[in-house]
Amino acid sequence: MQVIVCRDYAEMSKKAAAFVAAEMKKKPALVLGLATGSTPVGLYDELTALTKKGEITFKQVTTVNLDEYYPIDPANDQSYRYFMNENLFDRVDIDKKNTYVPDGTAKDPAAEGKRYEALIDRLGGADVQVLGIGQNGHIGFNEPADALVLDTHVTDLTENTIKANSRFFASENEVPRQALTMGMGSIFKAKKIILLVNGANKKQALATVLSGALTTAVPATLLNLHPDVTLFCTEDAVK
Ligand code: PGA
Repeated sequence: MQVIVCRDYAEMSKKAAAFVAAEMKKKPALVLGLATGSTPVGLYDELTALTKKGEITFKQVTTVNLDEYYPIDPANDQSYRYFMNENLFDRVDIDKKNTYVPDGTAKDPAAEGKRYEALIDRLGGADVQVLGIGQNGHIGFNEPADALVLDTHVTDLTENTIKANSRFFASENEVPRQALTMGMGSIFKAKKIILLVNGANKKQALATVLSGALTTAVPATLLNLHPDVTLFCTEDAVK
């Protein structure tokens, strides 16, 4: 894992955007794996600014998101589809039909997981996958557990994640109890991964990753097995 320690959130977002922009320039039809949460918002702002300046274009880019709540309607302002539209897709020149997020309205979530995994395979995996990390070390909705699931699947949210995400909902009760998420195997289909970690509240999880440990108790540690991961983190997440 290549480690890039940044002064603050603004610098982390700029450096991560420069990384993604360079990949987009190299391959205009990039398959870009995306994540939600507060961490990548600055990255999406920077990518929007670079697009508006004419330095990059999303015209040929395909995006594939990590996860989505289940069940949830895409029109719900807490859905990850809504988040992506607001924070990136509606602000850049991407063709929305080339943007994929697991379907939170699917009748059969297990079948939706299979369909989504087949889509990832059809795309040949992401060229670059953007990831954040949970305070408990989760990646997407791959929560700490005795065993992890390889492919895209439906999963129960842990109490820790329901609590952490309740800040975005009117109350904890409104947080969906399940999600559709890429599995670690789906994530590992990415050729390159960038992991963004901001803030002192992620310090413990990140320290476990950087220790080189491999444990499903901290799913992000499995990233130590991927051949091309670049970590962009803030100083307070590592010091
Ligand atoms: P955050 O969430 O970016 O809002 O901290 C990251 C995550 O839970 O994966």
